[in-house]
Amino acid sequence: METEGLTFPEAIQKLAGEAGVELPQWSPEDEAREEKRKSLYEIVEAACVFFEEQLRAQGGKAAREYLVSRGIDDATIGQFRLGYSPDTNTALLGHLKAKNISLDDMVAAGLVRPADDGRAPRDFFYNRLMFPISDGRGRVIAFGARALEADAKPKYINTGETVLFSKGQLLYNFAIARPAVLKSGTIIVAEGYMDVIALVRAGFEGAVAPLGTALTEDQLEMLWRVAPEPILSFDGDDAGLRAAQRGARLALSRLKPGQSLRFAFLPPGEDPDSFIRAQGPGGMKKVLDEALPLAQVLWRVETEGKDFSTPERRAGLEKTLREIVTQITDGKIADYYRREFDQKVFDTFKRRAPRQDWKSRNGRDQTPRRGGTFNGPFRQGPIENVSPAVRNSLLARSGRSGVVKLKEMELAVLLLQHPEMAVKHGEILATLPFSDPSLDRLRHETLNLAASGFRLETGRLEDHLVRSGMSDLVQRLRARRASGDIGPAHDMTDVGDAEDVEARWLRAATQLREMAELDPERKRAVERFNSEATEESWSDAHRLLVPPHHD
Ligand code: UTP
Ligand code: MN
Repeated sequence: METEGLTFPEAIQKLAGEAGVELPQWSPEDEAREEKRKSLYEIVEAACVFFEEQLRAQGGKAAREYLVSRGIDDATIGQFRLGYSPDTNTALLGHLKAKNISLDDMVAAGLVRPADDGRAPRDFFYNRLMFPISDGRGRVIAFGARALEADAKPKYINTGETVLFSKGQLLYNFAIARPAVLKSGTIIVAEGYMDVIALVRAGFEGAVAPLGTALTEDQLEMLWRVAPEPILSFDGDDAGLRAAQRGARLALSRLKPGQSLRFAFLPPGEDPDSFIRAQGPGGMKKVLDEALPLAQVLWRVETEGKDFSTPERRAGLEKTLREIVTQITDGKIADYYRREFDQKVFDTFKRRAPRQDWKSRNGRDQTPRRGGTFNGPFRQGPIENVSPAVRNSLLARSGRSGVVKLKEMELAVLLLQHPEMAVKHGEILATLPFSDPSLDRLRHETLNLAASGFRLETGRLEDHLVRSGMSDLVQRLRARRASGDIGPAHDMTDVGDAEDVEARWLRAATQLREMAELDPERKRAVERFNSEATEESWSDAHRLLVPPHHD
């Protein structure tokens, strides 16, 4: 930009050309595609209104009776926008056609099956109770649909994947649950639509469900964005325990300090819907209050109903538990889990172990004994070995990641508010080390847009991000901006003059880079402290990280 007087997009294009890198282009076709999505939202919304009307109409009588039989009143029908798809297979098709909507669009919206095998185009859903599924912004984008007869197969069908709907990245009722969760701090994950509805009716508004599949990574991240310890609820039978195990395993590699899962087990054969009907909201609350921590569920899954009467089997259990611990990427959490499992093994089998094997716990011999039946309890946890000062140090509690996170957030909020920074200081943005993947994606997208000549304005950028499946991030940044809790000096509600914004942006960028550019020696010291947390490693880390004090 400086040597040739080019604009940022021009400079990027020139350099990309020299480097042989293909740049994304914001083409007229892209604009057209975005328009198309917009019209699909309208079509799905029209279908939702149609299904709602049909539930109230003459033909919806059986569906209404079914809802009554399941204890669902008119207010709930309205709240969840429940509907009914009529018992003919062109009702919706005819309705949308009369609104001049093309067959292609109906198919693209997942509402109509195209002609095939000599069969004419026909409605995807018929004679079913309709549960509209919304995206993070509360726009209806798909449906779940339940058969009315008890023995119908399949019981539920869902809209297939469409441009608007990707079922692994959504949770039923999330748009409604999110604000409730931000207040209550509790998000509950059930298995079915009816469960979510029952939970909300019982006063647990922060209830969501995946859409007929096991919980995905993306869904887990969505949950963690609103609450540190989502509660997954399961049927207490074997299938429920297996499902819980899947959820637990999925979470392991993503655990962070203060970010985990809890598990609520209902009596065998019950789901939240049936349980609340039988035991009321009070019974449900009790089950939720008693939700088990992740470590306990992992232990339960590995031990329940199993026989550990031989040393080989016990050694096998220890091996499995160690394997579980190795999947935890956060060093400190892995340590805690190792200790907890060691303790549990010890508590469970100590009566069988020779007495000398545990004498050292309260006594003179502090040498870890290897080769005993269980050496677990003798491994002292690292945090226990150090003084209270170390244990309570900021370094020990959060490492540096908390500060870095805040700084990244501050930059991201600024960027969304003033995307022109991506044009003006694209070269800085391009090399900023964001550790939060979703913020890094924001960085990336914004740069791509800047490079492709997209007119960068807050509203347009937000729209683009939402359409690229990043509506959660947009919400998060907006909430952060509104809450103003990125420091008093950075009041985002006040746009400030341009000079000020630029200075703030550059300062934050510099600070983030400084945080990330710890030299290797410091990095090693921090890593060592994070994994062993001894006095010695603490003083090393402290000496390297905290600059000497000058008066
Ligand atoms: P369940 O079989 O547990 O049903 O499926 P449910 O939610 O308790 O439903 P009711 O109480 O019998 O009405 C849980 C979830 O699994 C998906 C749906 O999302 C359902 O809510 N599912 C279930 C399907 O996608 N297809 C099916 O055939 C069954
Ligand atoms: Mn049920």
